[in-house]
Amino acid sequence: MNSNEPPQVRGSSQAPTLEVRDLSRTYGSGDAAVQALRHVSFEIAPGDMVCIMGRSGSGKSTLLRQLGLLDTPTSGQVFLDGADVTRIRESRRRVLRLGHLGYVFQEYALLPELTAEENVYLPSLMTGSPLRQSRSRARELLAMLDLEERARHRPSELSGGQQQRVAIARAMVNRPTVLFADEPTGNLDTVSSEMVMTALARMNEELGVTILFVSHDPDHLRFAKNTIILRDGELAESAY
Ligand SMILES: Nc1ncnc2c1ncn2[C@@H]1O[C@H](COP(=O)(O)OP(=O)(O)O)[C@@H](O)[C@H]1O
Ligand SMILES: [Mg+2]
Repeated sequence: MNSNEPPQVRGSSQAPTLEVRDLSRTYGSGDAAVQALRHVSFEIAPGDMVCIMGRSGSGKSTLLRQLGLLDTPTSGQVFLDGADVTRIRESRRRVLRLGHLGYVFQEYALLPELTAEENVYLPSLMTGSPLRQSRSRARELLAMLDLEERARHRPSELSGGQQQRVAIARAMVNRPTVLFADEPTGNLDTVSSEMVMTALARMNEELGVTILFVSHDPDHLRFAKNTIILRDGELAESAY
């Protein structure tokens, strides 16, 4: 962790994996308008693992949704691997979300009728990959996350921490460039949180995926290579 340095590699010739320029997102209008993000700019280098911190309501989820192409900013731009993806067609956004971006949410969001393994390989089938290949990739990821023995279990038969690790495997099945994790440990006890954070760190180190995760726990800063701190929708000075 080095929170006094910007979340970017200076002098790198590689294009940043993500670049945000003067990004703002206002919800509603008139008197009811909420400026959730205000003129935020930063770069994320390939292979980075960034912790986004800030109080509740500071704009963390809003920021992840803009970067993850789950929402459209009011103004400003988002670049993914050097390409402006701010206002691309919905069909193109869908392709990027399925194949290039991965998501992990606080609530796991696994399908209850499917086994762990089926949950993991479903997004692979959705890209048109054959079942055998999709299943073998799912098994590989589940093994990496010490869930081999749980592959045939349904989510209701798994602990919260195990479900979240299944969700991480699912997010990785299509080999995304970037994985977004919005408070992935928000519902977990300390021991399970540690396992989930370790799982994310392994994905970053061994598979090279760039990760942006939101956490309230200062202890999780040790899993991050860089930090972004939001305050009332703005980048706090301390991040720079
Ligand atoms: N869909 C929405 N409509 C209106 N206001 C919203 C919406 N989503 C978030 N907000 C507001 O935007 C601000 C930032 O919210 P959010 O990004 O969820 O913060 P955080 O994730 O840091 O808790 C808060 O004031 C929140 O109430
Ligand atoms: Mg949030």
